[in-house]
Amino acid sequence: MSAGKKKRFGIISALAEEQEGLIQAMHHPVRHVHGMREYTVGTLWNVDAVVVLSRIGKVAAAMTAAMLVEKFGVTHILFTGVAGSADAAVRVGDVVIAEALVQHDMDASPLFPRFQIPLMGLANLPSDLALSSHLAGAARTFLEAMSGPAVHRGLIGSGDQFMHDGMRLAALKNALPDLLAVEMEGAAVAQVCFELGIPFAVIRTISDDANEHAATDFMHFVKTVASRYAFGIVEQFCRDWVGSQEAAEEPVLISMPGPGVDTN
Ligand code: ADE
Repeated sequence: MSAGKKKRFGIISALAEEQEGLIQAMHHPVRHVHGMREYTVGTLWNVDAVVVLSRIGKVAAAMTAAMLVEKFGVTHILFTGVAGSADAAVRVGDVVIAEALVQHDMDASPLFPRFQIPLMGLANLPSDLALSSHLAGAARTFLEAMSGPAVHRGLIGSGDQFMHDGMRLAALKNALPDLLAVEMEGAAVAQVCFELGIPFAVIRTISDDANEHAATDFMHFVKTVASRYAFGIVEQFCRDWVGSQEAAEEPVLISMPGPGVDTN
């Protein structure tokens, strides 16, 4: 075993449907109620994990992320859920993994540039590259069998609004041309993790096009598809993660040439 701190993953979703089955899949689950949330501590496919529902919105997500770190000792955070598409190339059923997240409703202009988090000097908060790459690999493996959904990586925007207006989305896209998806929590988790030095990743399955049909499409998708994706990708992620950690910890055998051995 490495001498480093034992890794523990916090796994957050906003809604129960985005996390269905994970608690049932846990070994030795222990439930803790704190601050109006249920944190379940246990192991998921041999990964030490704490699973929790944040509820919806940036404050709810920030509170949950901070508690996971400060009270439950998590060393890494994964956020899994659904999002609206903010790009024509990103279709319902596709998966988006955040490379960076922006609080798209942050606007303290003219004191600070639009989207910039005041006194932090940043608008786009980067996710952890290694963790996001692991997650992308897991998503690709899981989705391969379905031969259809694509995995995208890029900018996700979070705001305290369910986006359901094509004109409004177009205006936001005009201001943030790289935006791939919109949701309501990821960039808040990103800020907490950035400030506390916790590696994190965000994965979102696209449930709707953030337009006038968004509410109906969202409800249908969340009820029928979202949980299967979340469960399958998290399972694959945990299995791959454990494999990669074991490989990293295997002793490397260095063969030293003995006396009189010709090494050429
Ligand atoms: N999550 C899923 N769809 C969304 C949308 N259209 N706006 C905000 N969050 C979402």
